[in-house]
Amino acid sequence: MTLSLKERAPFAQGGNRLCFVDPDHRDRCIKVRRPDFTLADRRRKKGFPGNLRPLSWFDDNREEHRVLTVLWRRHGALLGAHLPRCHGFVDTDLGAGLVTELIRDADGAISQTLKKVLWDDGLTPSCSRAVGVLGRFWIEQGIPSRDLLPHNIVAQRGADGGLRRLVVIDGLGRPGLAGVRRSRSAARRKVANLHQRIEDLLTQRGARAGAFPGYHGLLFHDDAPERP
Ligand SMILES: Nc1ncnc2c1ncn2[C@@H]1O[C@H](COP(=O)(O)OP(=O)(O)O)[C@@H](O)[C@H]1O
Ligand SMILES: [Mg+2]
Repeated sequence: MTLSLKERAPFAQGGNRLCFVDPDHRDRCIKVRRPDFTLADRRRKKGFPGNLRPLSWFDDNREEHRVLTVLWRRHGALLGAHLPRCHGFVDTDLGAGLVTELIRDADGAISQTLKKVLWDDGLTPSCSRAVGVLGRFWIEQGIPSRDLLPHNIVAQRGADGGLRRLVVIDGLGRPGLAGVRRSRSAARRKVANLHQRIEDLLTQRGARAGAFPGYHGLLFHDDAPERP
């Protein structure tokens, strides 16, 4: 059966995908391709020779599913500290939807991105601690990833409002590439790069308080799909 999402409001979008709360499971997220930026559009945007690749090369859902499957098999339950569980695909009226764990705070709100919490609150002690924990995990486990971007990491708050854990929800693997090899040195570079990005964001925040930079990393609303 095809799940109808067109009538529903997504809770967030990135450059490539729309994210919906799974209507049947409040703790699951369904990601579909943005209809206004299709795989064909994405391929067209790439210049020659990149645009010779098959459409599947550009499919983030396919790649994320592939890499999450390998990582869960390889690392087991401890992966759950920093990567979402993956529940496979569901057929929707917006195309194949990838179903993953939806990260929510202790109070039930969908967790904000690391970019948003850094912009709102700065580097609080609990945030700094959570970044350290994620970095050590990434290096120890040698998790393969693209750059760790603050808008692709969500920050889950505990009951006391402090950050409990950081979960990387995008940026795994690379469309079309087979590379899922463990590499501590590559992970170390990605973590150093994340620290640099955090510093840059804090500098930017200090220099011009006010408007959040760009739309990446913002939720449309806290939990609109479940509101009347
Ligand atoms: N599993 C999740 N739990 C909570 N929020 C999520 C989850 N997945 C995505 N999001 C939110 O949706 C936004 C866009 O998702 P993302 O996977 O980064 O899409 P894209 O591939 O288009 O960049 C993220 O920045 C984040 O705010
Ligand atoms: Mg993203």
